[in-house]
Amino acid sequence: MSFDVTAIRKQFPVLKREIHGHTLAYLDNAASAQKPQAVIDAMVDCFENSYANVHRGLHTMANETTEKFEQARGRVAEFLGAAEANEIVFTKGATEALNLVAYGLMGEIEAGDEIIISQMEHHSNIVPWHFLREHFGAVLKWVPVLDDGSLDLDAYGALFSKRTKIVSLTHMSNVLGTINPLKRMAKTAHEHGCLFVVDGAQAAVHFPVDVLDIDADFYVMTGHKLYGPTGIGALYGKRECLERLRPFQGGGEMIEDVFEDRITYAEIPHKFEAGTPPIVEAIGFGAAIKWLSAQDRTAIEAHEMMLYNRALAGLREINSFRLIGDAPDKGAVLSFGLEGAHAHDIAQILDRYGIAVRAGQHCAQPLMERFNVHSTSRASFGIYNTVDEVDRLIAGVKKARTFLS
Ligand code: ALA
Repeated sequence: MSFDVTAIRKQFPVLKREIHGHTLAYLDNAASAQKPQAVIDAMVDCFENSYANVHRGLHTMANETTEKFEQARGRVAEFLGAAEANEIVFTKGATEALNLVAYGLMGEIEAGDEIIISQMEHHSNIVPWHFLREHFGAVLKWVPVLDDGSLDLDAYGALFSKRTKIVSLTHMSNVLGTINPLKRMAKTAHEHGCLFVVDGAQAAVHFPVDVLDIDADFYVMTGHKLYGPTGIGALYGKRECLERLRPFQGGGEMIEDVFEDRITYAEIPHKFEAGTPPIVEAIGFGAAIKWLSAQDRTAIEAHEMMLYNRALAGLREINSFRLIGDAPDKGAVLSFGLEGAHAHDIAQILDRYGIAVRAGQHCAQPLMERFNVHSTSRASFGIYNTVDEVDRLIAGVKKARTFLS
C-alpha cells in the first residue's frame, strides 16, 4: 500500500476552506478530526434512503438500518481486535463509556477501596472515579508522570495494595502524546486481581489497537477523533466484564421483561443501550473505520511522526520554546509554551494565518499542575496534514513570538 497525502486531502471537503484569507491548516486533530467524503456520504445515504429506528421494526427500512447499525458494531469489534461484536457497546463517546464503566462498577466499591489512575489522564478518566470517591469512599491513587512525560513505572508497581480494585489509564496522552506500555501495566494490574480500563480516545486513530494483546478488560474510544461523527463512541469490554457491570441507564431496548414488581435485563451489549441510539452516527462511525482501515496505517503513522519531528525541530529554534512531553514512545501531539507568552494569544495569532491549534488546559488540570504550567498550545497532526502546513506553523509561532515579546 502507498500513502499519497494529496489524494487523501481531496477526500476532505473542508480542507479547501479559507480562514482570514489563508488556506486552512487544521492542526487540532486531537480535539476533533475532519470528516472524509466517505463518512459524509454514508450518513447522507442513510438519511436519504433508508432511515428508520433500529431493532424495533419489521419493515424493510427498519431492517436495512438495523443491518447497517450492527455492521458498524462489527467493524468496531474488528478494528479493536475484540473476540465478538457483542463485546462492543455504542456510547455517546469515550467520556460516556468511561462513566458507564465507573457507574457499572459502583456496586463493587466499598470505602477504602483503591483506584489507580495517572497524572496524565484527561478529566473524563478522572472525574467518573472521583464520583466513586465522593459517593462510596474510594481512594484515588495517582501514577506520577516523569519529567519527559512518561509514566513512572516503578511508582506504578508500588501503588498496589490489597484494596486496589481498578486501574484506569490512557493509551496515549492528549497533551504529552505519550504512548503508555499498557501490556505490561495490564499484567501488573491483573496480578493484583484488578480490572484494567483503558482510555483509547487519542490512541485508536494513530496506530492499530489490539485489546486482546493488551489484555484490557475495558477499552473506550470515540468516533469524532477518528474522522467519524460526533455523538458516537464505543466501549469494548470482555464478555465477563461487561456482564459484571450494572446497567447504566434504564429505558427501552435494554430490558428483556418489565413487570410491575421486577425487571430483567437484555443481554450485552443491549443491556447498556437504553433508548433510541445515535443510529446515523453509528453508521458514520462504521464508515470512518472502514475508510481508515483501508489506508496504509503504518505509512500514516510514519507521515504523522515526520510532521511532528519537523515541527519540533523548527520550533526548537525559538529560544523561549518549551516542549511539554518528550517521552521516547509518543505520537504526533506537540504541546508547547513560549516563555512570557500566553497560550491563548499564540493560538489566536496562528488563527489569523489560517492555522488551527488548541490552547488551554486540554481537560488535564492535574497534568498542568505537574508541569507547573497554566496552559499549553498544542498542534496535533492527522492523516491529511502536510509539510507546508508544518512550515506555516513554525513561521506563525515565530511571528507570534515577535508580536508577544
Ligand atoms: N479531549 C480533546 C482534546 O484533547 C477534546 O482536545
